Amino acid sequence: MVDTAHSAPQRGGRSWRDALRHWRVRMVSDPAFQRAAASFPLTRWIARRKGRALFDLCAGFVYSQVLVAFVRLGVAERLSGGPRTLDELSDDISLEPEAAERLMRAAAALGLVEHRVGGTYALADLGAAMLGNAGVAEMVTHHAALYADLADPVALLRGETAGRALESYWGYATAEDSASIGAERTGTYSELMAASLPMIAEDVLDAYPMAGHRRLMDVGGGIGGFARAAATRTTGLNVVTVDLPTVAAQARLHFEKEGIADRAQATGLDFHRDPLPGGADLISLVRVCFDHPDERVAPLLARVRAALPPGGRLLIAEPMTDMRHPDAVGDAYFGFYLMAMGRGRCRSVETLRTMLSAAGFRAVRELPTRRPMLARLLVAEV
Ligand SMILES: C[S@@+](CC[C@H](N)C(=O)[O-])C[C@H]1O[C@@H](n2cnc3c(N)ncnc32)[C@H](O)[C@@H]1O
Repeated sequence: MVDTAHSAPQRGGRSWRDALRHWRVRMVSDPAFQRAAASFPLTRWIARRKGRALFDLCAGFVYSQVLVAFVRLGVAERLSGGPRTLDELSDDISLEPEAAERLMRAAAALGLVEHRVGGTYALADLGAAMLGNAGVAEMVTHHAALYADLADPVALLRGETAGRALESYWGYATAEDSASIGAERTGTYSELMAASLPMIAEDVLDAYPMAGHRRLMDVGGGIGGFARAAATRTTGLNVVTVDLPTVAAQARLHFEKEGIADRAQATGLDFHRDPLPGGADLISLVRVCFDHPDERVAPLLARVRAALPPGGRLLIAEPMTDMRHPDAVGDAYFGFYLMAMGRGRCRSVETLRTMLSAAGFRAVRELPTRRPMLARLLVAEV
């Protein structure tokens, strides 16, 4: 008897490629095939790699929680001066030696620390990288809210999760009147954004040096980190950051404290309702569009366009997806994060290009950035 389940693909209504893919799906899902692939010397490594990838998908939430414990207990900071013994560490982080060892072994398995000969632990590359970027630890701590919202992902997908933690954290995401959000709410997310901004600002300013411009307006600029970085790097550049009134007030205080208020201003407004001030020949939207639905981004782009003079330029910097190749950061992480937050979505370069053209921009091009995972960069001209 012929085993039709595993016979070669036949030409039918579908293309050969579809039939081949379907045949492959049936093969890979068959336990007998899985067993054979895991035993056969030439396929064993592939089977192990795929098996491991599937296990990692199942276990991802445990890995994240190991990271939460690592951050909350300040392990990276405690190892910043060099290797420590388990006894020293368990005292420092107030855990029983057995529990400290469990945490350190898990952290070693995840590449955060390494176990050295002689029984000490030291920072490994991932742990060391966290020391140099305060934003990572802040995000890990902040993820408690996302973790709670994702407890029932199907309910979230169906829109049945009421009172989401992220929706209330990012008060403006679903508010009808964004400008009415109090300083106590804008303050928390503004600090988180400021902590994770430096790398993005550096990458964007390296990809698009602003020397040819007179005045930059950073719309949705938070407490002014990007505007400040641009002004510091570009001699003679005037900057203005535009954000909700309570956030702009904080930016103004920062500019005054840093002694750059003569060429760095802050304007408070609601960019969904108010026209943007003129005078800038360059406008930036850094991590702004993906927070909002199309019906809000389209008018915002039109307002940006109206505020720019002929020859003026717009920069959009944020994570973007790739239509042809879904990826873990844009589609899985930001896809679900933004769903929990309320209304935004991570867009592809093609989608943004279409929206920019509809708003009257031309010559839209992508400039390569150092860490596209954090932000890709589009430049468009009036
Ligand atoms: C995700 S944060 C990005 C902040 C900053 N550009 C950065 O990358 O760190 C989005 C910013 O847009 C601001 N924002 C949201 N809705 C707004 C509105 N309707 N009018 C003005 N600013 C708004 C928020 O207050 C926040 O500072």
